[in-house]
Amino acid sequence: MVQRQAAAGGCANCDNLAMSPTAPTYRIAPSILSADFARLGDEVGRVIAAGADWIHFDVMDNHYVPNLTFGPMICQALKPHARTAAGAAVPVDVHLMVQPVDALAAAFAEAGADYISFHPDASAHVHRSVQAIKAAGCKAGLVFNPAAPLDVLDWVIDDIDLILIMSVNPGFGGQSFIDSALRKVEAARRHIDASGKDIRLEVDGGIKTDNIARVAAAGADTFVAGSAIFGKPDYQAVIDSMRAALRG
Ligand code: DX5
Ligand code: ZN
Repeated sequence: MVQRQAAAGGCANCDNLAMSPTAPTYRIAPSILSADFARLGDEVGRVIAAGADWIHFDVMDNHYVPNLTFGPMICQALKPHARTAAGAAVPVDVHLMVQPVDALAAAFAEAGADYISFHPDASAHVHRSVQAIKAAGCKAGLVFNPAAPLDVLDWVIDDIDLILIMSVNPGFGGQSFIDSALRKVEAARRHIDASGKDIRLEVDGGIKTDNIARVAAAGADTFVAGSAIFGKPDYQAVIDSMRAALRG
């Protein structure tokens, strides 16, 4: 395993930076699932001011998962808020926990999503769904639940931009990190390295300052954190402490 180091400082919208195996860029993607829904625009602005690299947008349909959150109209309303004070766009990272996938994926592409990820078990035709997301101008990701195998990667890794490993069962914020996710992150990292492609490896669920370094050591480069950030009074203090943990 190559030792991974944190890039200096935050890096909003830095997807175009050259990546080298010894100096990956880590991204922190706060999940607005744990934000104050009564003032979502402000929350997005505050967490970007605190150093968020991406905004993670958890879409739940009360069918694929037993919870219901927000749809493309909310994404469209928040899109103008996903900018740094200097005006740089901050990627909107849409995590679809919905079944079926394709119609909502198209609607989120229209609503301004940058990344759209879905669970392969929620789509009847995974390759087709990936192609449709890319044809709509977005980056495509696949999401793997704690008990889901990575087998599908053998057939679509050349087509995707992001792998998202769930370290909790999807549906709710504030759950505890499931340790077996670390082995799956390592396995996903091997797939990515073998492919030679520039694919983000994101982990979602139960990420805190005290476990983020272990997740990075397993090979992740992008970290979703909901309750760890939005549950606290000082978002920047949490994000800074996560970056410090990543620097080691
Ligand atoms: C769970 C969601 C996660 C969740 C993470 O279905 O995909 O993004 O919001 O929340 P925390 O960080 O609180 O575990
Ligand atoms: Zn998520």
